[in-house]
Amino acid sequence: MTENRTPIVPADSVAIATAAKQLCEGSLVAFPTETVYGLGADATNGESVARVFAAKQRPQFNPLIVHVKDTAAAEAAARFNDTARKLADAFWPGPLTLVLPRLDDRISLLVSAGLDTLAVRVPGHPVAQELLAETGVPVAAPSANMAGCISPTAAGHVVFSLPGADTGGPGMILDGGPCTVGIESTVVDLSAAAPILLRPGGITTEDIEAVIGPLAQPSAPNSEVPKSPGMQDRHYAPVLPIRLDATNARPGEAFLGFGPKAPDDAINLSLTADLSEAAANLFSMIRTLDGLPFEAIAVMTVPDQGLGRAINDRLRRAAQPLPTKPKDVCS
Ligand code: TXA
Ligand code: MG
Repeated sequence: MTENRTPIVPADSVAIATAAKQLCEGSLVAFPTETVYGLGADATNGESVARVFAAKQRPQFNPLIVHVKDTAAAEAAARFNDTARKLADAFWPGPLTLVLPRLDDRISLLVSAGLDTLAVRVPGHPVAQELLAETGVPVAAPSANMAGCISPTAAGHVVFSLPGADTGGPGMILDGGPCTVGIESTVVDLSAAAPILLRPGGITTEDIEAVIGPLAQPSAPNSEVPKSPGMQDRHYAPVLPIRLDATNARPGEAFLGFGPKAPDDAINLSLTADLSEAAANLFSMIRTLDGLPFEAIAVMTVPDQGLGRAINDRLRRAAQPLPTKPKDVCS
């Protein structure tokens, strides 16, 4: 990847207004959300949306999430039902994405990659909120990283993750500090008869089920038309191999601990075994270890409940072996 000189700009009102102008003129802008940084494009501008796919080297069968400022704007973009309204009332603004039938014809078909559904989300981060209010258009935004690599949870990560403005990347990166949730939104498909959990994420399955009852699991990953095309097995991948359920580091391994039982000298997702803190630290700690001279990263077991489910989902995908390392795209 060529050197990236995209400006990282503290997200004050002037910078947000500039970013909104750039988005409306067709440029890409990276911006913070409470989950991860997004690579935004005006969702009604097909050429801009195409540039998002190109910048990320993202397969065009993998649809994007549209970000809007409030539930009313979401209801203009996609057809809501009672379940969607209940979830929106309970969790928006916040780290939840709803997949619903498309409604707004202005939104580029490329956004939903040929599906007749649209993924919508109202982010809670104040910078994302202000940006969406300024632009007045739905903003398509995948995580601001190369396809298959670790999502960025700080503005500085974006520079290492994407090409610069001169080679198809974002024109600017709005810096809103580190992401507080640190793991992507939960994706729930409400377009079929029963709600389906497509991706565990920042809102726990338990919290969603408390509002709308049981969630079904997605169809098998090898079925011909995956329900969530982005959920390939290998994803969120660092360059180094990951070994799960480790109790100690083997020679050459970095160790990523969880909770008070981890060795004192290990980098720890959360010393107090707090799953929210672990989620917020996950990607940036893996990123740090990935840049050090180790041969692999050994990760301690994280309990598979609450936010731990989303953490384990990302760790399992990151640990999938690859025939060749994604060093050229992810480093
Ligand atoms: O937290 C997040 O969701 C972040 C921030 C930037 O909002 N965005 C994000 O986007 O994680 P991305 O593109 O990295 O992941 C979007 C996921 C993919 O797994 C994609 O396949 C799925 O949402 N998706 C999008 N539209 C869909 C649709 N119409 N039907 C099923 N899955 C969809
Ligand atoms: Mg992503």
